[in-house]
Amino acid sequence: MKNGIFKASVVGALLGITASGCSTASREKTDPQMPLLLGETLLADDSVHVNAHGGMIMEKDGVFYWYGEHRGDGTPGSMQQGVSLYTSSDLRNWKNRGIVLQLLDSVGHPLELGCKIERPKVVYNPTTGKYVMWFHHELKDRGYAAAQAGVAVADTPEGPFEFIRSARVNPGVYPENLSEEDRNAAWDPEMEWWSEPWYGQLRQGSFVKRDLDGGQMARDMTIYVDKDGRAYHIYSSEDNLTLQIAELDPTYTDHTGRYIRVAPGGHNEAPTLMEHDGTYWMITSGCTGWAPNAARLLRADSIMGEWTQLDVNPARGEGAETTFDTQGTYIMKIGDSFTFMADRWNPENLGDSRHVWIPVKFDESGNPYLEMPVDTETVTAEP
Ligand code: DGJ
Repeated sequence: MKNGIFKASVVGALLGITASGCSTASREKTDPQMPLLLGETLLADDSVHVNAHGGMIMEKDGVFYWYGEHRGDGTPGSMQQGVSLYTSSDLRNWKNRGIVLQLLDSVGHPLELGCKIERPKVVYNPTTGKYVMWFHHELKDRGYAAAQAGVAVADTPEGPFEFIRSARVNPGVYPENLSEEDRNAAWDPEMEWWSEPWYGQLRQGSFVKRDLDGGQMARDMTIYVDKDGRAYHIYSSEDNLTLQIAELDPTYTDHTGRYIRVAPGGHNEAPTLMEHDGTYWMITSGCTGWAPNAARLLRADSIMGEWTQLDVNPARGEGAETTFDTQGTYIMKIGDSFTFMADRWNPENLGDSRHVWIPVKFDESGNPYLEMPVDTETVTAEP
């Protein structure tokens, strides 16, 4: 077997089942054969498991670019080197293109080795012709306290990406959907955490106000480019208690100051986003560190809201309560097909965390759901 083919994990192509649940016959010609990854080792051309976690895949001119967290090689003391890139023409055979955003052996630099880069996402900006990478950035020796968003740009998708800045989001600006009354409401920083009054003041934006001057916290994140070309940064904020969606400027390298809060106090991480038939959907996770939990589903008619969290787990069937032992990182749209890319984290050796790709299907009401294929025969590629 050629290196790069899924070792012991090839399930064939996702034919016969597409995002819309259509049959092979009605599949769009533009749909490539979407592979399923089910958590086995995935070897790239260097015979090493693809070390690109919390990542995403961008398609450009027939090439698939898979960016993700490099997570060390699993040997004691091995460190994250930065953001890795793998390329493919068929989503099956992957070539290791190395580190495209490099952490530095430079004391005091924001990207000093030992800092953390998580959930990198890359988008192409047609106005500047640049590739823009955003990532969750934590500074060296500060655990997860910095909660910053980093941005870097490159002239080509292969990089190298040049670091621009890392900072919290939209300092000095209130979210659009925080009412005047809530903005002016007093809050008590000493109030007992998790108590009902504490939740009440949280919903009224206590942590937004706490972080107003320095900017909003930004941890787990994704980037979404809407149909009109506007891009948005979606991130876990307010101590992971509330999601925020912030508009990016026309260069995609900065925030405009427009942002909203989503599901205040809802404890959502790992946001992934897609639009289907005019409805925007988010699939997120809860907050349990590296341990998997049940996914959540939110919907809106436009990206800047209003968002509603549905009382439903988008995952169905056996393993749904832990999203099949995974946490989402990105929804990849190829043709008409949506694929939920997820990580099966191995906290003992993050580099060895496994990749799981699950087809997104839509039920009769148009609601998306995730279902692990149980009978792989039914999703085997046609000859
Ligand atoms: C859960 C997040 O989704 C991950 O990206 C990572 O930040 C871990 N928490 C760290 O515990």
